Amino acid sequence: MDVRSIREELLKSFENVRTLEELEALRVRFLGKKGVIQQGFKKLKELPPEEKKAMGKLLNDLRKEVEERLASVRERLLEEERKQQVERERIDVTMPGTELAWGSTHILRKAKEELQYIARKLGFTIVDGPEVEDDFHNFEALNFPPYHPSRDMQDTLFLPGGLLLRTHTSAVQIRALQRKKPPVRIFTVGRVYRREEVTARKFLAFHQAEGLWIDKKVSIGHLKGVLAEFIKGFFGPGYKLRFRPSYFPFVEPGMEVDVECVFCGGKGCKVCQYSGWLEILGAGMVHPNVLRAVGYDPEEYTGFAFGMGVDRMVMLKYGINDIRLLFDGNQKFLRSV
Ligand code: PHE
Repeated sequence: MDVRSIREELLKSFENVRTLEELEALRVRFLGKKGVIQQGFKKLKELPPEEKKAMGKLLNDLRKEVEERLASVRERLLEEERKQQVERERIDVTMPGTELAWGSTHILRKAKEELQYIARKLGFTIVDGPEVEDDFHNFEALNFPPYHPSRDMQDTLFLPGGLLLRTHTSAVQIRALQRKKPPVRIFTVGRVYRREEVTARKFLAFHQAEGLWIDKKVSIGHLKGVLAEFIKGFFGPGYKLRFRPSYFPFVEPGMEVDVECVFCGGKGCKVCQYSGWLEILGAGMVHPNVLRAVGYDPEEYTGFAFGMGVDRMVMLKYGINDIRLLFDGNQKFLRSV
């Protein structure tokens, strides 16, 4: 048995080992039960005693050498593998992160929240009402007699079963008065509907904010004070208000309220059509017939109501000239405001 040639083969084999699996195969080949070295030990007994000892030492030395070789090659392979792994899993911490598309508050919602905030500060309770209404709440209790021409102002969208899409948030006045006992001081913001031809200025749906204050001895003075607070809170200080007589069946006297043009400060510009004024709300003292319709005594209680065009106010505040932009969810527009 030629230990030396076995040793040479062995050392050569180690040079070519690339993987741990190959190394393991080598280990079996040399050190395994049926491996060359073990075979060598088995053959020892066939040798004459004087050679046995020398051969035994050779084989033992060889086994030790192989074990050391195996250990050092394993160490090298493991180290290589670790390096490769580090390379594979390397993370470039300087790379920019993935951009998330954050949502934001729609300007109509923002306006709603601002108006509600002002209302709350003035002692109003925030309420809501249904968008699908009946004739009683949208018209009859608000002193629109059946077949009366005043109903034509409203361009109502009717639904089957005698229902309709509310044409104004004034319907919420009636619901609140039915539900509560005086004093009543409520505020609501919501969507209303009218049968309109859609243009840059008019849409089938829009938003109104409505306030109602019923108590003993509520006067027009209170109404003026409250409206001034709303305009100041929403547009900022310094704008004058102008009250013009107007007609709504559910108030007497009724009025339309203009605010000094927020663009030109009243000097006259394209937005206010060179009038210096912007018409943004209707108001008035609640008509005795309305109070009667919901069982309040108009001799004892009085009050005022007002309704604001929220979309118009938002358009003025943000300089938007097409109402449809408020409704169609255009991302480019929404990011720009
Ligand atoms: N509801 C009226 C409209 O839609 C506005 C209004 C509200 C007027 C309250 C007076 C009082 O035009």
